[in-house]
Amino acid sequence: MSSNITKVAVIGTGVIGAGWIIRLLAHNKKVFAFDKDIKLKKKLIKEIKRTWPYVKKLFNKKRLNLNRLKFVDSIKEAVKNADFIQECATENYSLKTKLMHNIGKYAKPSAIISSSSSGLLPSRIYSKCKNPKRTMIGHPFNPVYMLPGVEIVPGKKTQKSYINKAKNFYKSISMNPLLVKKELPGYLADRLQEALWREALHIINEGYASTEDLDRAIENGPGLRWSLMGIFLTYHLAGGKAGMKHMLEQFGPALKLPWTKLKAPALSKKLSSRIIKGTRKQAKGKSVEKISNIRDEYLVSLLKMRKKFENKLR
Ligand SMILES: NC(=O)c1ccc[n+]([C@@H]2O[C@H](COP(=O)([O-])OP(=O)(O)OC[C@H]3O[C@@H](n4cnc5c(N)ncnc54)[C@H](O)[C@@H]3O)[C@@H](O)[C@H]2O)c1
Repeated sequence: MSSNITKVAVIGTGVIGAGWIIRLLAHNKKVFAFDKDIKLKKKLIKEIKRTWPYVKKLFNKKRLNLNRLKFVDSIKEAVKNADFIQECATENYSLKTKLMHNIGKYAKPSAIISSSSSGLLPSRIYSKCKNPKRTMIGHPFNPVYMLPGVEIVPGKKTQKSYINKAKNFYKSISMNPLLVKKELPGYLADRLQEALWREALHIINEGYASTEDLDRAIENGPGLRWSLMGIFLTYHLAGGKAGMKHMLEQFGPALKLPWTKLKAPALSKKLSSRIIKGTRKQAKGKSVEKISNIRDEYLVSLLKMRKKFENKLR
C-alpha cells in the first residue's frame, strides 16, 4: 500500500515513541523526533540498534539509514514540516490537551495529528487543538515495530477524508488499521485486556495463584489460539458442529455464576509487592532488554508463520 506521506513527527520518544520511530525508519520515512527529555536521544539510538536485527528480518530490509532521523529540540521544529504527527507523550488528560494545543499551533493545517493514547477520549484531548477535523487516535501495541495492530478512533469532529488518509498511511508502514466506529474510553483491545488484568489481580490478591501460574494459564491455552483468531471465532469452534449456538446453550448459564469480579481490587502494598516479586522471579535474573530480544525473535518467526494461515481464514 502506498501513501504520499513521507515526513512524520513523533512527539515523546519513550517506549511507544521509540517503537513508532523504528517502524517508520524501516519503511523509509523521514522522522522528526522530539521529547522534553533531551537525554532520551542516546537511549533511542541504542534501542534502534538493539531492535534492528529483528526488524530487518521482519520487513526484509538491508540497511538502516539513521540519516532519516532528526532529533530536534522543540515541538515547533518537529511538526512544522511533517505531513503526519504521531503523539506519544505520557498518558494524562491535562498534559495531552495542552500538548495538542501546541502541536496544532505549529503543524501545517492539513497535517494529520494522531495520538497513541491507550484509552483517553479524542474529543477531550483535542478540545483545544486547531483544526480538529484532522485529529484522531492511532493506538498501537507494544512493541510497535513488530505488532501490526493500530486502532483508529475518531473524535466527534474528525473528518472521514483524514481517517482514510491515516488508514492508507498506517498500511504503508505494514500495519493493519482497525477503525473504531466512535470514541469510547479504553477503545477495543485495551477494554478486553483490562478485564483480564482485573481478574488476574483479584486471583493474586486472594492468593489462588502466582503471577507465573496465571501467565502459564494464558501462554499454554488461550494465548496460543488468540494470535490466529479472537474470542468469538474461538468460542464458535468450542461449540462443536453447531458452533456458537451450542456454545451459548452450554456455557450461557455460566454468565450468572460468580466467575468474574470486574471491579478492580485496590492496588494495596501487599498486592503490588506480590506482583512485582512474582514477575521478578519469572524473569529469572534476565534483564528487560534480554527478555525483549527473546520476544522480538519469537515475534518475527510467529508473524512470518501466521501470514500463511491468515490468508486461509480471511
Ligand atoms: N506502553 C505501552 O504498552 C503502550 C501501548 C500503547 C499505547 N501507549 C500510549 O503511548 C503513550 C506513551 O506511552 P509510553 O509507554 O511510551 O510512555 P513513556 O513514559 O515510556 O514515554 C512517554 C514520553 O513522553 C515524554 N513527554 C512527556 N510530556 C511531554 C511533552 N509535553 N512533550 C514531549 N515529550 C513529552 C516523556 O519525557 C517520555 O519520554 C501513552 O499515551 C500511552 O498510553 C502505551
